Amino acid sequence: MQFLDELKTRRSIYSLGNDISLSEEELITLIKDVVKESPTSFNSQTSRAVILLNDEHKKLWSITEELLKPLTPEEAFPNTQAKLQGFAQAKGTVLFFEDQDVVKNLQEQFALYAENFPIWSDQASGIAQVNVWTALAQLNIGANLQHYNPVIDERVAQEWGTPENWKLRAQLVFGSPEAPAGDKEYMNDEDRFKVFGN
Ligand SMILES: Cc1cc2nc3c(=O)[nH]c(=O)nc-3n(C[C@H](O)[C@H](O)[C@H](O)COP(=O)(O)O)c2cc1C
Repeated sequence: MQFLDELKTRRSIYSLGNDISLSEEELITLIKDVVKESPTSFNSQTSRAVILLNDEHKKLWSITEELLKPLTPEEAFPNTQAKLQGFAQAKGTVLFFEDQDVVKNLQEQFALYAENFPIWSDQASGIAQVNVWTALAQLNIGANLQHYNPVIDERVAQEWGTPENWKLRAQLVFGSPEAPAGDKEYMNDEDRFKVFGN
């Protein structure tokens, strides 16, 4: 089935370059369209995205390096630094946010579901993230998902002027795949699924 093949094409690719044949316009339009077509609870459209390309993308990973340095044990920092500098070699990063003002309004408007809205907002963010990740994979653009929030939140807001109510949830680094994904293990279906009535 084509859809299953498409899902399998999405993997975590860590070795990424910036050699992408898709034009930046096409890339930006695709990411926007995929986020727009991703479902949200009550069609609340809580997801926000900032697309960083080229030097702006590099800036993100150099800021992350700067912020992580004082928080990382000295002996572990070279590894962290190498990883972050590796991300900087890619073409871009999509920053995924969720608009907390929308979440709060929903909680007030629909008190019965108040506890669920932050959860649904995070789920919606995950859906948007994986949809973008999978869509990029179809165009042979590799990606990996990172979570340097909340360490980088304040600086990101300063640098790119995102509103205070936009809460950073994930960073999707993307670029040309320079090495294949590693092997992936799967747990036993018997421990994972139950089917009744068949
Ligand atoms: C919710 C979620 C959070 C993740 N967070 C990270 C992360 O912070 N850093 C990272 O390198 N990979 C992260 N990953 C990637 C997973 O490790 C990866 O998807 C998993 O090992 C399966 O490999 P695959 O993506 O190649 O299928 C995350 C994946 C998901 C779904």
